[in-house]
Amino acid sequence: MIESLYTPMQVDLRKRARELAEKVMRPVAQQHDVEQSFPWPVQKAIKEAGLYGVWIPKEYGGMGGGVLDLCLVVEEFSRACGGMGVAYAVNALGSFPIIVGGTPEQKAKWLPRVASGEAMISFGLSEKEAGTDAGSMITRAEKAGDDYVLNGEKKWNTGGAVATYNTVFAVTAPGRGARGISAFVVEKGMPGYRVGKHEDKMGIRCVPVVEIHLENCRVPAANLLGGAEGHGFKHAMQTLDRARPGVAAQAVGLAQGALDLAMEYTRHRKQFGQTVDSFQGVQWMLADMATQIEAARQLVHHAARVIDSGARGISKVSAMCKLMATDTAMKVTTDCVQLFGGYGYCKDFPIEKYMRDAKITQIYEGTNQVQRLVIARNMLREASGAPE
Ligand code: CAA
Repeated sequence: MIESLYTPMQVDLRKRARELAEKVMRPVAQQHDVEQSFPWPVQKAIKEAGLYGVWIPKEYGGMGGGVLDLCLVVEEFSRACGGMGVAYAVNALGSFPIIVGGTPEQKAKWLPRVASGEAMISFGLSEKEAGTDAGSMITRAEKAGDDYVLNGEKKWNTGGAVATYNTVFAVTAPGRGARGISAFVVEKGMPGYRVGKHEDKMGIRCVPVVEIHLENCRVPAANLLGGAEGHGFKHAMQTLDRARPGVAAQAVGLAQGALDLAMEYTRHRKQFGQTVDSFQGVQWMLADMATQIEAARQLVHHAARVIDSGARGISKVSAMCKLMATDTAMKVTTDCVQLFGGYGYCKDFPIEKYMRDAKITQIYEGTNQVQRLVIARNMLREASGAPE
């Protein structure tokens, strides 16, 4: 990192995140991966370090940082453990709808508790039959007096089992497509809100990914984000534009973490009487990986800076950084396993976990096929001269 390119707060954040990751996360990463258990001591350490407030505006108890600040922290956490990186970053995904679409009263009600780490928050968009085609969701929210009654099931709810709040998207006006979708903040313990199946996953095993059941779940009308129906899909898309660089930063962290391990291994592993890092074929692999990681990192930081500048039309660059960084992470972590040979395929070494953790980054918060769709749609719109 060339420190002069970053603010003093960003340099400090990155340093603190790295120290926490090395001291608190790395030593327990394998244990939580094996047990598929949530790392509560890690959550406590992040809370005590004040790092849940990074992306939350100062007036709501946060640090007032932006997407770049968030990405710097997520990269460092993910370098030690990809699951712990997303367990943290998903709180940004869950709270961005409040930041982009909530009323001042709603922001004042929920954001301070997220910023302090007292409450975690998840994001309830996907359903069994509505993944990539998020707009085809069927979870219904019907007005009943001062409440809305929610019925349906949400899928792939990352962090949902440990979150106090869940930003849930539901149909308030059937037949109106994306314009008939609204967002609600649903609080754990509300009658009719139930955490269901826990997925048994290939990677990111320390963070629970669950189904959420809404069975005549009564939510106060005051929890309708923005206080008006029909803006939920737009808020979901605006959220994903801001959150995808966080997934990209997770991918950069995973790739860097894997390369760190591969460097260490190849410097000590001997074959044919010499360490394997002395072979040119290995050196070229190391050089290619370092170059690909740095290119991905710089695209992530560029995208984050564009978003933080308040510019319009951020979807394309956000999708580009997610696509490039996550494909890089998959390639780099796979090549690092290759450098470990047979040992890389076994759980005695931590390297195989990096490859397992990397895979999901190409899938969640929009598959990389969706990212290509978003990029191409925006390219064609720009070429036609149509406004954003
Ligand atoms: N910002 C603001 N508004 C936007 C927007 C954006 N980036 N993108 C679309 N919209 C608006 C459009 O302007 C349009 O509004 P109007 O109806 O007023 O004209 C409306 O949204 C519908 O837009 P589209 O017709 O383009 O929508 P679409 O149905 O064709 O879908 C899509 C587009 C890009 C495929 C979108 O559905 C999508 O991003 N899908 C992937 C969803 C996703 O990422 N899911 C992951 C969820 S999180 C997760 O993975 C789990 C977890 O917990 C980590």
